[in-house]
This record gives sequence, structure tokens and C-alpha cells, in this order.
Amino acid sequence: MHSVSDGLEGISVAKTTLSDVDGEKGHLVIRGYDVEEIAGKISFENVCGLLWSGTINFEEEQKVKERLAKARERAYEGLGTLGNALKLANGMDALRASLAQLETDKYKDLSDAELCTGATPVYAAAWYRYSVGQQPVSPDKNLSTSQDYYRMIFGNAPEKPRYEGIDTYLVTISDHGMNASTFTTRVIGSTASDLISSVVGAVGALKGPLHGGAPGPVLDMLDSIGKPENAEAWIENELKSGQRIMGMGHRIYRVRDPRAAVMERAVEKLEKAGITTNRLALARAVEKTAQGSLGKKYPNRTLAANVEFYTAVLLDTIGIPRKLFSPTFAVGRMVGWCAHYFEQQKNGRLIRPLSEYTGPRDLKL
Ligand code: COA
Repeated sequence: MHSVSDGLEGISVAKTTLSDVDGEKGHLVIRGYDVEEIAGKISFENVCGLLWSGTINFEEEQKVKERLAKARERAYEGLGTLGNALKLANGMDALRASLAQLETDKYKDLSDAELCTGATPVYAAAWYRYSVGQQPVSPDKNLSTSQDYYRMIFGNAPEKPRYEGIDTYLVTISDHGMNASTFTTRVIGSTASDLISSVVGAVGALKGPLHGGAPGPVLDMLDSIGKPENAEAWIENELKSGQRIMGMGHRIYRVRDPRAAVMERAVEKLEKAGITTNRLALARAVEKTAQGSLGKKYPNRTLAANVEFYTAVLLDTIGIPRKLFSPTFAVGRMVGWCAHYFEQQKNGRLIRPLSEYTGPRDLKL
């Protein structure tokens, strides 16, 4: 008889050189670099190189930028063939439905990973535009992914602090161990299925509020708390009624998620540049209160801020609309999903765990 680990807690399912999460000390290493070492210092294009090829190559950055721009153009050209995919009410559903239709065979000069990574910001931005009654904006091949993503959402290129903030965000969330959507990618990839099928499954996993769907609700929470002095009563009330506090807690971290600090610093940087929504002080007060209340309820378990708590504040400060928070997460995590797909194809084995049957036996018709 094998034992069952609910949620595969404490089980390693793959060897990887891509990233490592140290939940006890609160460290995240991406291909050898501490996240603090690279976030805010390298571009989204650099992190594609790092996760897909193993090194940060500043000389290759321009080439990656051009190839991703070409992939964005291809995705934009194909928007007309997506039917109603980009008119779906939920941005993650739209992303799933449109990525599922990406025709990789048509464009042999770009890899499937480049096509997916270029297409995701195009689909996310186009979905948003349709949702507010506007036409999609065509990509600009001279811009980086972060610059162009913002431009395709709003129609005008962002100032430097904003696109630097987007880069910081995308690099920080590019990969994170064997999280649910990455595992999904690897499970699908392990059957020797294609990259598109794998990342489409991953988008579905990321949609859930226990994984990538929390930042929108975090902002809703900050809005409904309104001011620091309301935080304690609001949080206690939520906990009493059995609700989870969004942006708090993590399966792996036993301390504060190190990415929360990276996001918080990125908000400070924007504020110094004069770009603010004045939510940082409130967020800090709510975090402190939530950690205290959760600490009282679960004295043996540290439930601290996770990445999504300050993601909400950062993306909001940059100006990204709330309904685009989860799709924007997919823009960054696509890089990690593709890297895990390659690694699974190269070294992995069909993922096929067991289950423990607890149903009846020997029933007769
Ligand atoms: N608010 C309230 N209670 C929480 C909580 C939260 N944010 N996070 C965990 N708990 C509770 C659990 O319900 C559990 O209680 P129980 O023993 O009475 O069932 C206890 O704390 C221990 O939970 P734990 O096993 O550490 O959590 P997990 O690994 O099952 O879940 C998350 C991890 C991320 C799903 C969970 O912390 C959560 O739902 N957080 C809010 C959603 C979120 O921010 N998601 C983004 C993650 S990056």
C-alpha cells in the first residue's frame, strides 16, 4: 500500500535546473540567480534567454526583442481567425481559447515558445480592448515586450518607470519551482504532446484564485477596507466567516514570499518617480493586520504575504487594469512554462502517479 500525499505536498516530481524555491529561508533562485539579483536589472527578453538557453546574454537581447516582436506581429495578423475567443467575458478564458488556436506550423521561422510568448501579450491586450469597446492596437516592432504590452493596452507607449515596472514584474514571476500551472505544463508535456497543448492547460491552472487569480481580489479587498483603521475588523470578519485572505499564505513559504519584497520595492520606485495610486501605505497596514490575525488563528503556521499581494499594488500603480492582472501573470509565466516543457521533453518521463481507491468493490448488476 502506498501512502497518499494530498496536494502532492512534500513530494519532488522532477529534477530541474530552472528555479528553486527555499520555503524556509524565503529564497527564490532562477537559473542560479537570486530573484533579488535580477529583478529590476534585466529585461523580459533577458529572462527568456536565461530560462530557455541558460545564460543572460546582453548581446543577444536585441535579437530576442526582434524575434518576440515578429511573434507579436504574427499573432496580431491572426486575430481575425480567432472567432469569439477574444470576446469571452474572462481574460483567462480568452487567453486559453486564443492560444489554443495559435497556428505554429504556419510560422516555421519562429519557435513555438517564441510564438506563444509573443502572442500572449497581444491576446491579453486585444481582449482588454474589446472588453472596453475598443479595437486592438497593432504591435510596434521597435518596442520591447514590456513597452509594447502597455502600448497595445492603452494605445500609447509608457514612460520609462512604467515599462521598467512591467519588466521587473515579468522577470520576477517568470518561473517558480513546481507550481500548479508549471506542473500542468509538465504533465501534458510528459505525454509527448505539443507545447501549445501544454501551455493552454497551464493557463487553465493559473486562472484559479488559489494560484494566479488572487491579485484582482487583493485590490478588491484593499478597496473595500478603504483605510488602515478598518483593516482589523474587516479581516477578522472574513476569517470568522471562513473566507481566505487573498495574497496571504503559500504552500511552500514558511516566511514572507521574497517576491513580495521585490514588488513592494518596485512600487516605491514608481512612487519616487511620481507615479502613485497611494495604495502602498494601506497595503502595508493590511498586510501587517492580516499576518497578525492569521497568526492568532494558525499559531503553528506562518501565513505571510505572497507575491500576489504586492503584485496587485504594483500592477495597479503601473496602470494595468485589474481585469488584466491574471492575463499579465500569464505573459510572464509563459517563459517558465516553455522552459519546463523543454526540460520535461529532454529529461522527463511520462508523469503517471497512483491513486488510492476508496470506493466500493464487488458490486453486482
Ligand atoms: N486566509 C485564510 N486562511 C488561510 C489562508 C489565507 N490566505 N492561507 C491558508 N489558510 C489556512 C488554510 O485554510 C488552512 O486551514 P485549515 O487547516 O483550517 O484547513 C491553514 O491555513 C494552513 O494552510 P496551508 O496548508 O498552509 O495552505 P495551503 O498550502 O493549502 O494553501 C494557498 C496555500 C496559497 C492556496 C493559501 O494560502 C491561500 O488560499 N491563500 C490565498 C490565495 C492566494 O493568495 N493565492 C495566491 C498564491 S501565490
